[in-house]
Amino acid sequence: MCGIVGYIGTQVATEILLAGLERLEYRGYDSAGIATVSEGKIHCVRAKGKLYNLREKLEREVNHAQIGIGHTRWATHGKPEEYNAHPHLDCGMRVAVVQNGIIENYRELRDELKSKGCEFRSETDTEVIPNLIAQFLPEKPIPELQDSNAFLEAVQKTVNRLEGAFALAIAAAEYPDELIVVRQQAPLAIGFGQGEFFCASDITALVPHTRAVLSLENGELARLTPLGVEVYDFTGTRLKKMPRTLSWSPTLVEKHGFRHFMLKEIYEQPAVVRNCLEAYVNQAWHAQENCELSPINLGLSPKLSENLAQIQILACGTSWHASLVGKYLLEQLAGIPTQVEYASEFRYAPTPITPNTLTIGVTQSGETADTLAALEMEKQRRSQLQPEFQARLLGMTNRPESTLASIVDEIIDTKAGIEIGVAATKTFVTQLIGFYCLALDLADRRGTLSASRIEEILIGLRHLPQHIENVLEQQERVIEDLAHDFAETQDFIFIGRGINFPIALEGALKLKEISYIHAEGYPAGEMKHGPIALLDAKVPVVAIAMPGGVYEKVVSNAQEAKARDARLIGVTPVNDLEAAETFNDLLPVPEVEELLSPILAVVPLQLLAYHIAARRGLDVDQPRNLAKSVTVE
Ligand code: G6P
Repeated sequence: MCGIVGYIGTQVATEILLAGLERLEYRGYDSAGIATVSEGKIHCVRAKGKLYNLREKLEREVNHAQIGIGHTRWATHGKPEEYNAHPHLDCGMRVAVVQNGIIENYRELRDELKSKGCEFRSETDTEVIPNLIAQFLPEKPIPELQDSNAFLEAVQKTVNRLEGAFALAIAAAEYPDELIVVRQQAPLAIGFGQGEFFCASDITALVPHTRAVLSLENGELARLTPLGVEVYDFTGTRLKKMPRTLSWSPTLVEKHGFRHFMLKEIYEQPAVVRNCLEAYVNQAWHAQENCELSPINLGLSPKLSENLAQIQILACGTSWHASLVGKYLLEQLAGIPTQVEYASEFRYAPTPITPNTLTIGVTQSGETADTLAALEMEKQRRSQLQPEFQARLLGMTNRPESTLASIVDEIIDTKAGIEIGVAATKTFVTQLIGFYCLALDLADRRGTLSASRIEEILIGLRHLPQHIENVLEQQERVIEDLAHDFAETQDFIFIGRGINFPIALEGALKLKEISYIHAEGYPAGEMKHGPIALLDAKVPVVAIAMPGGVYEKVVSNAQEAKARDARLIGVTPVNDLEAAETFNDLLPVPEVEELLSPILAVVPLQLLAYHIAARRGLDVDQPRNLAKSVTVE
């Protein structure tokens, strides 16, 4: 949560910082601020609300400073008011800090600093940091006698007093040629330019300037000067680190004519599904031949699946929904009992330790604090046990460079490209592809599916991108029109069964997230045990009715809702006559095998949520109170 940026070089810092913050605004948008250093003084400008408020303030002034830090906030400690906005300065105005994270021992530090005369102006945990640093700085450095390491050492002493998870960028009035950045369990990357250096919470803010990037690791801090970057650990030992070259193109973070990133990302789904399948399905494999080859190539080591007795999946939000589909696939195709846990719950009530268990952490961003902490805990609690109880950790993420990679043994990269819209769309479908591939890989290794069945599923998967294209081409207008009817609706129910129950949950979550309409996802068969009492003519019911084992049941459950006057919307195959009679409105999708239908069923639901939110005039890409990457517990 929260985005931080920093710049040091020869250009005017403000514009670079603002452009960086724009790219990080998905991380939080309760307030924004920047601090620059020139003529021995810190100049700080902050504004409540979205970035354009800060931009407006900055337009009124001239600022040629060539060093600065910036922040976009998702409030944790303290209300989203200007006085709580970052950067925070020490009471002597010598040090400015932006933080992403939480300082757990800030109360104790604040009391200590108060007793030494520091006055605090905000309710945040962050404000202790500049004050601590200032305490460790020499009183008033005389320029020619100035100790060149004084600022670095003051930061180093400070970080050793902080408990929690944090990433920091720090500037100081008396050290105009140094920017210090810190990483401790919150992401931070440094960008290397020609005589200029950048830092940001996420490399999306660095790619417009450079592709040479160094992601700091936990417990590291770096000094950025116009001459270069020096990396140290928290004890002060200098580390040898080299940037890597990204293959990303800056155009990945453009809207390309779409009104919102979310819509663009929905439209990217055929391509990213294709990409993912191309990467993970072994094109040379055929059921009748090539017995030596595996149908799937996820690059996972055999020890991950050896004697596998159980799988547990840890995730949050949309990734949790993808994991529920994953459970279905792993159990039905590979025959492995699978549990899916909310990472935030698992941390405090973990399941008993079982032998030969694979733990999969699913997180699009690779930075969700609860998911990372649950995985760390799993690693920790198994570390002293017998070999069969040892942790086997697999991560599934769209950001293989993220913190997740440093915790788990192996990674499945979902290869969807950067996703900017806060509501996950293309990364969800590629997580599903990740699970299809994993389940097929394990099914092949364990011999639970015949080669011809595996081939049949693979052929079905390869047809999906074309089917998604058809839904987008033929249905978007229809859905846009339908969305008009629901601009004032207050409640929605989504129902599905079996492998499509998680899609009902995801459809409801998309609608809640971006349109602020109350929506519930329910297993269709459970409606009569309570939620049916909510139904009347004002509550539309969206039923996912895909031909297969539970189709008739879902249609009957939908009829029960219709009998209570609910307006019925069916996500169902194009030519289904029974469906045409049952439903008031149709969101038709091509007919595919039930096992593969979630990837198609979710697309009209994403479009429905998108168009309702757009119709209501809401900020689709940055819905209120949310952030894409939740790096706090
Ligand atoms: C936030 C986002 C959700 C996302 C969830 C988990 O709540 O708003 O869209 O599903 O975090 O994120 P992750 O990066 O772990 O998949």
